Order: sequence, then structure tokens, then C-alpha cells
Amino acid sequence: PFILSIAGGGSTYTPGIVKSLMVRLQDFPLAEIRLYDIDEARQNTIAPVVEKVIRDHSQSIKFTVTSDPEVAFSGAHFVFAQMRVGQYKMREQDEKIPLRHGVVGQETCGPGGLAYGLRTILPMVELIDLVDRYAHEKAWIVNYSNPAAIVAEGVRRLRPNARVLNICDMPVAAMRNMGAILGVDRRKLEVDYFGLNHFGWFTRVLVDGEDKLPELRKHIAKFGLLTEDAAKTDPQHSDPSWVKTWRNIKPIMDNFPEYLPNPYLQYYLMPNQIVEHQNPDYTRANEVMNGREKKLFAAAEEYKRTGILPDAFHVGVHGEFIVDVACSLAFNLRSRHLVMVENRGAITNLPYDAVVEVPAYITSEGPEPIRVGQVPLFHQTLLQQQLASEQLLVEATIEGSYEKALQAFTLNRTVPTMEHAKAILDEMIEANSDYWPAL
Ligand code: G6P
Ligand code: MN
Repeated sequence: PFILSIAGGGSTYTPGIVKSLMVRLQDFPLAEIRLYDIDEARQNTIAPVVEKVIRDHSQSIKFTVTSDPEVAFSGAHFVFAQMRVGQYKMREQDEKIPLRHGVVGQETCGPGGLAYGLRTILPMVELIDLVDRYAHEKAWIVNYSNPAAIVAEGVRRLRPNARVLNICDMPVAAMRNMGAILGVDRRKLEVDYFGLNHFGWFTRVLVDGEDKLPELRKHIAKFGLLTEDAAKTDPQHSDPSWVKTWRNIKPIMDNFPEYLPNPYLQYYLMPNQIVEHQNPDYTRANEVMNGREKKLFAAAEEYKRTGILPDAFHVGVHGEFIVDVACSLAFNLRSRHLVMVENRGAITNLPYDAVVEVPAYITSEGPEPIRVGQVPLFHQTLLQQQLASEQLLVEATIEGSYEKALQAFTLNRTVPTMEHAKAILDEMIEANSDYWPAL
């Protein structure tokens, strides 16, 4: 049985991930679960909920809550990482500063994502070094930390040999919705996909060898990539902002019907429309703080008072996916998943060393990307520009370079002009003074 540490133990996602682990104990046996967080108070609030989830399923699994990295990682076989540097108060800034300049306000796309990247790369490297120091020599870090594309590139540059698998639940969430539309379990789908994280396209959706993309297209033309059932299975994705996100795929697909876009492409392809419908005083960060966050903290409070744990969290694809991936790493299952991986020629007309998101076989030595081949000029060009923006941001972080940060902001498709880029960057430098390296 494994020792598993969750870094970012105080996250509201932790109970859902642990619940998912509990229903999969046969596949992924556990001796101990450790929660690790630098925010002790927050983690101490969430921990009793997590403990209850564990005890409902197992009396024997040891449960440890700590903010001491040595305690957290010593001998650990797996680390699930989900850090949010600056927490929701900084996410709010990531979203609101660009909006004040009429630019998309989003936690991973556009200037918000670049700002979040500047906050996260170095702490992520610190975490990797701590795991390297204390954990089992073959330990894997499975990393959900955002902005995933930038974090993955930062890790590749700074710790190229680290055993880190960077993942995102968005493709799986899209597949869950596809399954709901087609009336089949998402695990029955085999998809082809290429791109970067939060910036890619599904090119085929096979069910028993038959491509269902044409059928999906008909549904999407009317309702977007969503059914009522799909929304209901995931409370987060039934929030109005997420329903809108799934619906907004429609115009992209109407115009470019060949592939099915990752929903995040809406921020890059129709930024004006997005900004028009965003409230600069009440963004997704506010929605989450007043929704998911409040609900779980209230549940923790109620549990403390009454001993009864309300059903205030969900497992969903987010919890399921990380356990699937960990099983494949643990037992060399070679299961096929969409993950972030160094290109190594999978997409022939993107750089060999670019971090891409493509289907890969997950082995105990890491992901083996599956060959995609050449992608069309339109998509290649969009990808190159996004990649350059992300790579410059990583270089800006490593070198402390203002100029490269400005280039990263300027190259981002959500940012219309150099002047916008500079105004936003300068405000963000102020707002992030506790977090960014000096530029
Ligand atoms: C999806 C994405 C994550 C992102 C999350 C935001 O799950 O894959 O990268 O962090 O959505 O969700 P939220 O509910 O916090 O806006
Ligand atoms: Mn993601």
C-alpha cells in the first residue's frame, strides 16, 4: 500500500479527491494519506471533513495533517499537488485587473494566467525539491496546479528530470459531456486531441471505432457541449458562468466545424464577446468564494457541531481523473489519457521540446505521447503564438526580465495592443509585490 501526500491539502477540492481515492482502494491501495499545506488554519478547517470521508470507508488508513514538509513527504510514493499561490484573493486580482482595461479576466487565460504563472513557477519548483529531498526515490508528483501549461513549461525548464506528471481535468470534463450527449459512459470514448493545455482541439471522438464527432456537432449547434444531466453531475459546472462556457463553443464550431475546440479557446478567439458579458466587479473568483468555498466551510462547521457531514462536495471527473492517472503510473497500466507531455515529435510541426497536451500512454516511467502528425497551418500558428507567450513568461520568471514579461503579455491573443499589455503588466506588478520575483 502507498503513502500519498496531498500538497495544497486545504483546498476545497481535497475532500472530493479523497472520496475518489476511497472508492478506488481496490485499484490503488493506501497505507496513509497526508495533507500538507502552508496555510495551517485553512487546512485544519478542511481536515476533519477529509478524515470523516476516510473513516467512512476505512479504519486502517493512517491520516496525517501537517505543514512540515519532512513529515508530509518522508517516504511518500505519490504526491498530488494542487497549490493556489495567493489563494482566491489573488485570483480575483488576476481577473479584475485585465477587465479594468477591457481585456479578458480569467485565471489561466490571458494576462490573469500569465500573472498566476509568475506567482506559481518558483513555489512549484520548491515543492519538487522538497519531494525530491524526502520522498521515495521513485515518487511521482501528479500535478493539477494552475496555470498548468505555464507551470509545466517552468518545471521542464528548471527541473527537467523531475518525476512530475502535469494534468488538467478539462478534456475529461469535455468527454463526460460528450458521453452524456451520446448516451455512453465517458470511459467508452477514445478521443484524438492536439494542442496545449487550455488551448487545443478534439479531432475524433470514437465509440466502438465509429467517429461520433458529426453527431456531437448537431447537438452542439443547438445546445453547446452540454446536457442538463451533465451539468447536474457536477455542481461546479452547473454554475451560470460554466454553463455559458460550455455553450460558447457553439460559435467557434459553427465557423470552424472540422474539430471540436477546448472551451477555453473562446477567450482567445472571441475575447470582445467574453469581456462584454463579464462583470468587472464580480468575477468567477467571487462566484467561487461565495459558492464552493462558503458551502464547504459551512459544511465543516456543521460537521463539527453535529457530527453529521452534509454532502457539500463532489467527486466528479476532477477526482476520478487524478486517481485513474495515478493507478496507471503505479502499476504501469499504459492507459491512454490526455495529459501534458514534452512533444518529442508527436506533433511534427511544433517544436520537439514544447510542452503539448495530447493523448499518451501512462507508464510507470511517465507519459509516452502518441503520434499526432502534422496539424493544419491555422492551428499550428495559433499554437506557436500561445507557446511563445508562455515560454517568454517562464523566461521572464527565471531571469527576472520585465521586457520578456511584456513580450509575453503582448503576444497573448487576448491582449489587443502593446499599450494594453504594458498598462496591465504594470498594475499587476504592484498587486503581486508579495509574490512575483522582481522584474
Ligand atoms: C477546470 C479547469 C481548471 C480550472 C477550473 C476552474 O476544472 O481544468 O484548470 O482551475 O476549471 O474552475 P473554477 O470552478 O474554480 O472556476
Ligand atoms: Mn485545467
